[in-house]
Amino acid sequence: MTRLHVISAATRPTSSGRPLAAWVADRARAHGGFEVTPVDLAEIALPFLDEPEYASSGVYAHQHTRDWSALVSSADAFLFVLPMYNGGFTAPFKNAVDFLYGEWQGKPVGLVSYSAGGTGGAPAAEMLLPVLTRLGMLPAGRSVAVPGINALVGEAGFEAPAGLTDELDGVLDDVAALAKEPAAV
Ligand SMILES: Cc1cc2nc3c(=O)[nH]c(=O)nc-3n(C[C@H](O)[C@H](O)[C@H](O)COP(=O)(O)O)c2cc1C
Repeated sequence: MTRLHVISAATRPTSSGRPLAAWVADRARAHGGFEVTPVDLAEIALPFLDEPEYASSGVYAHQHTRDWSALVSSADAFLFVLPMYNGGFTAPFKNAVDFLYGEWQGKPVGLVSYSAGGTGGAPAAEMLLPVLTRLGMLPAGRSVAVPGINALVGEAGFEAPAGLTDELDGVLDDVAALAKEPAAV
């Protein structure tokens, strides 16, 4: 089983993305082949990057970094569920990514973006791709963008529009395929 961490990148207490991330985690379980761990970045509650050494050293002075490192290390692959703020990815999420280095390397990642407007946060996902490749991650060829997020979230949670399940399954197929590929030598 591929250990898949579904990271909800939002930190606002009223995040509309949290119910979406819960739905994504459920779908990933239903897909099969994944041992799914939901991760809520708001609960991780990292400060601004405060490590004296580069993350590439793997030398961490702070317990919050060691905990974050252990959590990310325990994953074989990721889905990032990320909101778009002002046309890009969010500062707290980039901060959380920058805390670590080797823990991300060589691992497949699928992107599920969302926004209030019509783009579904696709520009934020596009902006993140060079960061992920710089880190040596393996981004899935397909991604999912969810527009109009606020209208899709209610008391019952996230209500998926028609076709979204199939789109997400495509991303999960890509992540599964990347996770099965033998490591490059
Ligand atoms: C600081 C900020 C900037 C935003 N910028 C955009 C934007 O550029 N385009 C857009 O469609 N929605 C924008 N939104 C709306 C968010 O996409 C929407 O509120 C979404 O629910 C945010 O994710 P969250 O609820 O998980 O924080 C912005 C929201 C915030 C808080």
